[in-house]
Amino acid sequence: MSDTPKSKSQSANAMWGGRFSASPAEIMQEINASIDFDKALSPQDIRGSKAHASMLAEQGIITKSDAREIVKGLDQVLAEIQSGTFTYSRQLEDVHMNVESRLKTIIGEPAGRLHTARSRNDQVATDFRLWVRDRIDAFDKGLAMLQRALAIKAERHADTVMPGFTHLQPAQPVTFGHHLLAYVEMLSRDRGRFADARARLNESPLGSAALAGTSFPIDRHRTAEALGFDRPMANSLDGVSDRDFALETLAAASICAIHLSRFAEEIVIWMTPQFGFIKLTDKFTTGSSIMPQKRNPDAAELTRAKVGRIAGAFQSLAMVMKGLPLAYSKDMQEDKEVTFDACESLGLAIAAMTGMVDDMEPVAETMRAAAGRGYSTATDLADWLVRTLKLPFRDAHHVTGRIVAAAEAQGIDLEALPLATMQAIEPRISKDVFSVLSVDASVKSRVSYGGTAPQNVRKMARAWIKRLEKASAAG
Ligand code: ARG
Repeated sequence: MSDTPKSKSQSANAMWGGRFSASPAEIMQEINASIDFDKALSPQDIRGSKAHASMLAEQGIITKSDAREIVKGLDQVLAEIQSGTFTYSRQLEDVHMNVESRLKTIIGEPAGRLHTARSRNDQVATDFRLWVRDRIDAFDKGLAMLQRALAIKAERHADTVMPGFTHLQPAQPVTFGHHLLAYVEMLSRDRGRFADARARLNESPLGSAALAGTSFPIDRHRTAEALGFDRPMANSLDGVSDRDFALETLAAASICAIHLSRFAEEIVIWMTPQFGFIKLTDKFTTGSSIMPQKRNPDAAELTRAKVGRIAGAFQSLAMVMKGLPLAYSKDMQEDKEVTFDACESLGLAIAAMTGMVDDMEPVAETMRAAAGRGYSTATDLADWLVRTLKLPFRDAHHVTGRIVAAAEAQGIDLEALPLATMQAIEPRISKDVFSVLSVDASVKSRVSYGGTAPQNVRKMARAWIKRLEKASAAG
């Protein structure tokens, strides 16, 4: 580690060497340099710089020929980055200075005019917004594909009966299709949350400059439009100093990851030999290095786990931002790694889930047998007593409880219980009661809006498939 002054020419930072005569201590560079991760913003950085340079020329702040040089040079830098020939340097701290420095090497003097009426503060805020916006768009596409996979499977299994659970105890029979469509609805709200976040995110900080705006006659509406933003942000201090767009996206991502983790957990449970509700092929399972019989749902387990990193990222950034005075502080450089990691994780989780949904096949006989266990049609019996004998529901509940106890004592299902045993408890029960005790009759009867009846499920699944197809054709 050395912070002894060296001559200006060999060590001071090329970007602000005017006031500095020594290079930073090694540890300073270590804690300060962000290039190792913010190089991911290179395409956005270049896009922002091109828009800025063109606007500067349109406004007569730099010459048209300088702007042309800059734009051409930036295109070359981007090409170098994309082909992997670009060398990033830690001495140059971050992506903004790496790009600008390379531009200088390529085009010379005009490169120095690019940073007119701009600061890295509004530059990074712009780059990061563009990056997060791209991720939101990718999530929306990915989630739509997952919804589609679920809806297609749901339509195919609109009649496949399975146990519905509360407290993870068998509650009432439902259909597999109905269960899958529950996730389609949840994911639809996730997409809504991302869309809301995107709408608020989509304002341009560019031109806020360091914090106070600029004396140059820039046109912020022009750059906002060029970058696909709806408008420029109205306050320059706000423009450089808030990261709520990232927080909001991470919050939406956390909720989405929570949803995926619930489904992932169900896949894990369904895959156990004890349940045996679904099968996944070799494509989405792994074996054990010691136990030859094993087939582990690792992709589901990892999806279940990703929420830790994603919700952790929200927490992490919230703590970075908490109590920060206006405007920019270097603390905010800590916004990126967690956001990058969370977005990468969610993208993977969505893709893995889509693959598993495509791959999974329910074991219909096992599901059906399980659906009938645990006196799952007891509510149907109570409802029959209400409908047919006009019992108040509370009384029907009590009578049904006694009938279930009788069946339990004999170790048999409700369907197998002799009529005489039921009549000993409630004499007006007739053999018509058996028509409601099967799991099929039970699900068929649940025709209320949003209920599990196969006809409902089929209709909803088809409506979703149509809606998703229309959206993907339009987008
Ligand atoms: N690398 C910085 C960041 O990510 C860029 C902005 C630096 N601004 C500054 N005033 N030092 O936040």
